[in-house]
Amino acid sequence: MKKKIAILNGDGVGPEVTKQSVRVLNAIAERFGHSFHYTEALIGAEAIDKTGTALPSETIDICLDSDAVLFGAVGHPKYDNDPNAKVRPEQGILGIRKALQLFANIRPITVYPTLQHLCPIKPKNMEGVDIVIFRELTGGIYFGKKETSADGNSAIDECSYTREEIERITHKAFQYAKQRRNKLTLVDKANVLETSRLWRKVVQEIAQQYTGVAVNYMFVDNAAMQIILNPKQFDVILTENMFGDIISDEASVLSGSLGLLPSASVGNKTALFEPIHGSYPQATGKDIANPLGSILSSAMMLDYFGMKEEAETIREAVNWTLENSFVTKDIDPVNFYFTSTIGELLCDYISGKIPGSIKKENIELRKSTII
Ligand code: IPM
Ligand code: MG
Repeated sequence: MKKKIAILNGDGVGPEVTKQSVRVLNAIAERFGHSFHYTEALIGAEAIDKTGTALPSETIDICLDSDAVLFGAVGHPKYDNDPNAKVRPEQGILGIRKALQLFANIRPITVYPTLQHLCPIKPKNMEGVDIVIFRELTGGIYFGKKETSADGNSAIDECSYTREEIERITHKAFQYAKQRRNKLTLVDKANVLETSRLWRKVVQEIAQQYTGVAVNYMFVDNAAMQIILNPKQFDVILTENMFGDIISDEASVLSGSLGLLPSASVGNKTALFEPIHGSYPQATGKDIANPLGSILSSAMMLDYFGMKEEAETIREAVNWTLENSFVTKDIDPVNFYFTSTIGELLCDYISGKIPGSIKKENIELRKSTII
């Protein structure tokens, strides 16, 4: 198969982790006889520095002309502490989500038994945890009217949702739940917010069409607690934009590291794949960031292309690295491997250079010759 992939490296560790993803995709292409064609485009702080805007129109055109987008990260400390900045790197990711109408952000929370020691939750509460968050991505408070009064002493962020915006992601979440454990939890704040009451009403109506799926409703404050207290109870979580942003970072602690988690953003046109971690400025250029969030996002991209075996091959390779403690600094601050070494090991595994049964000691020997 031939596929066109837009590469938006962005800022911070974005380029480093994306580079490893591209290597892994190339190893997959080689093994399975595919051809992936990449086009790089600017986004975020890098785009601001070069063009004055976080999302040049050329970037949107390149994405629209591609089968999928692989996104790194955006953000730069020089904007974080300047509340008066008119252009911000984050406008890049928010803008591309809107331009491609990526209304559903799918964030799987996978738990790896070998990383259980990094999880702050009691092991007995962690068995069988497997959650997928469906976060609405192009509506709500993120995209509502924003205003600061002339005297600068009051500000407004408006949160609004339409029935149609809720319906389209709700159907996707129900369809997904049907292929899993048939459970869907709507996370909202219907005891306070009008928008949440609309979400609840629409989800209740749509639930009639998916009778095999058990639906429950949970206020976001309680959900934040339940995710930590009893994560096993969740299968698919459906929620609006900002609640999804917050609880997905929270849920990431279940897997052991934010650096591991991938996501897919889908809409009507080209889909976009990105790790859920951000630009991680402190690690930039040090070759220490965890590339697995990006690499597992590439696996989700292959799923989206219908390349199931190829996607599984990446996941198998990732499991192999974790089981053998070939991990980055976020996972083992003492005995860690570099970002690029993890990419290399994964490629070697995928291309069959490393037999799956090989022991860590042999790699250690090999490591001294390849690094
Ligand atoms: C995320 C990020 C973004 C968001 C930022 C970078 C704008 O936190 O993808 O979760 O808030 O959506
Ligand atoms: Mg976030």
